[in-house]
Amino acid sequence: MTRTVLVTGGTSGIGRAIAQRFAADQAEVFITGRTPETVEQTAKELRVHGVVCDAADSGQVEALAARLNELDVLVNAAGGLPQATSGEGSALEVLLAQWHANLAQNLLTAVLTTTSVQDKLTRGSSIISIGSIGAERRGGSYGAAKAALGAWNASLSAELAPKGVTCNVVSAGYIADTNFFHGQLSDERRSALLEETHNKRPGTVDDIAQTAYFLASQGARHITGQTIHVNGGAFTTR
Ligand SMILES: NC(=O)c1ccc[n+]([C@@H]2O[C@H](COP(=O)([O-])OP(=O)(O)OC[C@H]3O[C@@H](n4cnc5c(N)ncnc54)[C@H](OP(=O)(O)O)[C@@H]3O)[C@@H](O)[C@H]2O)c1
Repeated sequence: MTRTVLVTGGTSGIGRAIAQRFAADQAEVFITGRTPETVEQTAKELRVHGVVCDAADSGQVEALAARLNELDVLVNAAGGLPQATSGEGSALEVLLAQWHANLAQNLLTAVLTTTSVQDKLTRGSSIISIGSIGAERRGGSYGAAKAALGAWNASLSAELAPKGVTCNVVSAGYIADTNFFHGQLSDERRSALLEETHNKRPGTVDDIAQTAYFLASQGARHITGQTIHVNGGAFTTR
């Protein structure tokens, strides 16, 4: 049976790898992003449908939902570190803008998209949201937004699991070959991130894609309401 899959933030890094994994399974895949050029180019390369949509904009999200029929897998991968705000205003206003930007990009993107497509999810479908190790420590407003994603996911699972929908967060450690750091990850910081893993290597986008693929498989039907950590041991739950 051909599954229909929506991957927000599917034009780059983790979201792109997830879209590619499901496309390899002959799924009908829709990817989104805010930048028309990368949406068009990635959709062409992966042979999937591309839709320009800012997942933090309720009007654009509603328009996206209107284009979809039934949905078997929703992956909320859109997120990241927002570009620096203008810096205008008082220190408190700048702080407020930074928190709003992080909450919008890393929490509300998932909440808005999920809510808008909820009635299209089939029995046996899966929602996977990409969280971060930053939720566990030193994460600032980004980490707080990703921690809230986990809390929201738990309540989402309680609501949707009775309807046969699993809801999980895949919390990623440092993943190489993405645009997450906007090219500004220093060698020192990268070495420190590798050093704290048990297996002494960065995560790959495929590590996350394979985990998402498993969570959407038949073998994962009893896994719901969870945060699954994929970080080479950099953070352990015990
Ligand atoms: N890379 C890491 O080390 C790491 C670690 C932990 C968690 N994560 C999380 O993994 C997810 C994927 O990030 P990545 O590492 O793959 O970074 P990336 O390469 O920068 O990809 C981010 C994707 O999200 C899209 N996006 C961002 N904001 C969006 C919005 N409001 N609406 C729609 N699309 C949006 C981007 O496209 P446009 O900018 O064109 O919209 C791009 O397609 C994020 O949630 C991030 O927080 C990453």
